[in-house]
Amino acid sequence: MPSRILIVDDDADLLKLLQIRLAANGYEVSCATSGEEALARVAAARPDLVITDLRMDGMDGMALFEALHQGRPGLPVIMLTAHGSIPDAVAATRKGVFGYLTKPFDSKQLLAEVEQALASGSGAGVEAVGNVQQFGDMLTRNPALQEVLARAQLVAGGDASVLISGESGTGKELLARAIHRTSKRAERPFVAINCGAIPENLLESELFGHVRGAFTGASRDKAGLFEAASGGTLFLDEIGDMPISLQVKLLRVLQERMVRPLGALKSLPVDVRVISATHCDLPLMIRQGEFREDLYYRLHVVNLRLPSLESRREDIPLLAQHFLQQMARKYGKQVNQFAPDAIEILVGMSWPGNIRQLENFVEQLVALSTTPVISAVIVQSLLFGESSLPATSFEEARRNFERDYLVQLLKIAAGNVTQAARLAKRNRTDFYKLLERNQIDPAQFKAG
Ligand SMILES: Nc1ncnc2c1ncn2[C@@H]1O[C@H](COP(=O)(O)OP(=O)(O)OP(=O)(O)O)[C@@H](O)[C@H]1O
Ligand SMILES: [Mg+2]
Repeated sequence: MPSRILIVDDDADLLKLLQIRLAANGYEVSCATSGEEALARVAAARPDLVITDLRMDGMDGMALFEALHQGRPGLPVIMLTAHGSIPDAVAATRKGVFGYLTKPFDSKQLLAEVEQALASGSGAGVEAVGNVQQFGDMLTRNPALQEVLARAQLVAGGDASVLISGESGTGKELLARAIHRTSKRAERPFVAINCGAIPENLLESELFGHVRGAFTGASRDKAGLFEAASGGTLFLDEIGDMPISLQVKLLRVLQERMVRPLGALKSLPVDVRVISATHCDLPLMIRQGEFREDLYYRLHVVNLRLPSLESRREDIPLLAQHFLQQMARKYGKQVNQFAPDAIEILVGMSWPGNIRQLENFVEQLVALSTTPVISAVIVQSLLFGESSLPATSFEEARRNFERDYLVQLLKIAAGNVTQAARLAKRNRTDFYKLLERNQIDPAQFKAG
């Protein structure tokens, strides 16, 4: 299908000339002789690109751009400018106009600019493979993940225990919530607990509850999370971090479907669906004697594995745009798209922290951006900091990179050095040395 172009100029001769040139190259062209006329025609013409004169009587090119932008933020616009108005045209590109051509221009310049602008409008140069599928708040166009989501949807209705595995930041909790929301337990609580974040002795009473006097400091009865989640879903996050002694007790609760709070004489019936999640390789942990095999089989009646972001790069433009809209709302900023080369950088980057890292990165881009379109320059400066300036020496660039990299990791890991070290594929001791050398204090990245 030929691309449709709407051209706007109050100079009838130039308009005719442009129309002939573009039509000769296979484009479907419609014309308007004023900004007002262009706006009136745009609904019917449904252009993929608008080329407009900057200076016109009545509504000028910039006012036309802003009006068009309201309705269709992704529609690329090229400005035509006379010699004296180049500064205005440059200012216009800062506001999100795709580009400008200074009169007189030749066919080659015109066609090159048109091609680029059209490519920017059609999914930012990155091919959209497959259709977007959504389950709960999870979006994807990756076939492997779509299959996982389809299975999740299928099992959501039942009560089977589900184990979700996947690297850090791949959406394990989001998927657990989506399953809960589509289940028949949706009206009842979804209770999440991170088994790795709570000391062993507290975890037990947290899960099962205790009665007054069960241990020093237990001044009154306290219901456990199994009780709190009654009728709903209990999400056991980072199940691989659960101490082995507690694994035994958890298994018993799941088998007997009864829970006995610490210090209590009587057991209470349990009515929860358990969804657990882990970034660990549980079968490996079983072989190493760190995870109980019988518990594993209880938990992973259904096993859902989330692929890493790097193995589904086609999702990067989709998710980046999704987070861009979210963050623009959060910050009340007029940022609405990425420049095609900015997206290209994102697609090519490495994402050890997966979607969470992408989300943080886009948040920082939106916070930094002063234009509606996020440019490649902004992405680069965020990636490499000052070191992207060519004046920097190699040594300095490497130091800057190392520092920025460590800071990024700590942000993703919210100051958790063990997790950050894991992302960097370093052991903790090495990682601490790196932090020391770069004078970075991990405590400053802790959440809250
Ligand atoms: N497919 C997706 N579509 C939209 N947002 C997503 C998707 N996957 C993840 N997210 C978002 O990415 C962030 C990280 O997801 P989530 O917390 O579920 O990951 P996780 O696997 O539990 O990570 P961690 O191991 O670090 O706890 C969340 O803000 C979530 O909303
Ligand atoms: Mg999580």
